Amino acid sequence: MPIHIPDALLPLFEQGLLEEVIRPLMSGKEASVFLVRSRGMDCVAKVYKDAQHRTFRQRSAYAEGRQVRNSRERRAMQKGSAYGKSLLEATWQNAEVDALMRLHDAGVRVPVPYHHAKNVLLMELVADANGDPAPRLDDVELDRETALLLHEILIRDIVGMLCAGLVHGDLSQYNILVAADGPVIIDVPQATDAAANRNSEAIFLRDVKNVTNFLGRAAPELLRTRYGPEIWDLFARAELRPDSPLTGRFAPKKKKVDTAGVLAEIQDASEEAERRPPSAYQLKKQRQAEAERAAKAREAARPAKPSRDGRPEKAQDEAANPAPKKKRRRRRSRRKNAGGAQGSKPQRSTHPGS
Ligand SMILES: Nc1ncnc2c1ncn2[C@@H]1O[C@H](COP(=O)(O)OP(=O)(O)O)[C@@H](O)[C@H]1O
Ligand SMILES: [Mg+2]
Repeated sequence: MPIHIPDALLPLFEQGLLEEVIRPLMSGKEASVFLVRSRGMDCVAKVYKDAQHRTFRQRSAYAEGRQVRNSRERRAMQKGSAYGKSLLEATWQNAEVDALMRLHDAGVRVPVPYHHAKNVLLMELVADANGDPAPRLDDVELDRETALLLHEILIRDIVGMLCAGLVHGDLSQYNILVAADGPVIIDVPQATDAAANRNSEAIFLRDVKNVTNFLGRAAPELLRTRYGPEIWDLFARAELRPDSPLTGRFAPKKKKVDTAGVLAEIQDASEEAERRPPSAYQLKKQRQAEAERAAKAREAARPAKPSRDGRPEKAQDEAANPAPKKKRRRRRSRRKNAGGAQGSKPQRSTHPGS
């Protein structure tokens, strides 16, 4: 049966970039993918469908945070006008090429993009051991060991991707191919800028969950891991590196109390307080204390004089060396009980401070 060659591929024949369309690989919602022969090599040509065949609204949510050249273009894209749609279309396709380049440069295993023209991306064929197009993760039988190994590699790729500033946005067993040399992430046109998009965290966590849940069918221990939040937490604190050690466990960090720091703060504050001139209140208190001290000293220096109740020594003693309040109160009430209201008076009269 003759193969229908999409119009979008014809210019590539004319430019000498294509010799043959071998067979269609897949025709999805977004694109048709062909196995082709290009300059003597088996490659893959992804031919994007027209804008009107795709869900526009979903894409504009994903495109948030993506650079647009000027405000007229941004407005057009937000409004969804025909002009806006064609712009978004171009951005969409460039976004896949851009993301593939960025990821490839960052050492993430993705198909190498070779050429990009209107509606077409020509890229490396991700192949199995026989050189045939590799199966999707969804299509392979997995034992526990293989699932664990694939998970480990994919988590590293996901980290590398985030370190390159990108979140895949549609990562699942359908967009991961199992090549002869390991898993390969594909289908990245919706990849979002991790820092600029408000939804990045949720999209990222969903990506990781998709992969973990799928591989968790063969290796159930994966279902208890929390790599997503662990990785995002490191990223949010600008501490994520391609080789950051990971545990798969995550407990939101409580703010550590910096005891040494707190003590230093207190020390600083008290030193500063000492350097500051005393306030009016402090001056008043100081003057009061000095006056009291002086009065006590005067009283102590005065010769003993009998007081009205005729107990000079005792009163003198008390003036110079007053008993603690509690004791005094008790004594006062004792005297009150013994000698009526008068009992408390002598003490007061001999107490110059009061
Ligand atoms: N570079 C490639 N090498 C091998 N197969 C590929 C490659 N790119 C895509 N495919 C195949 O084509 C299918 C669809 O490609 P994909 O990029 O996921 O587009 P879609 O947007 O239609 O999902 C994939 O599931 C895979 O089987
Ligand atoms: Mg896909």
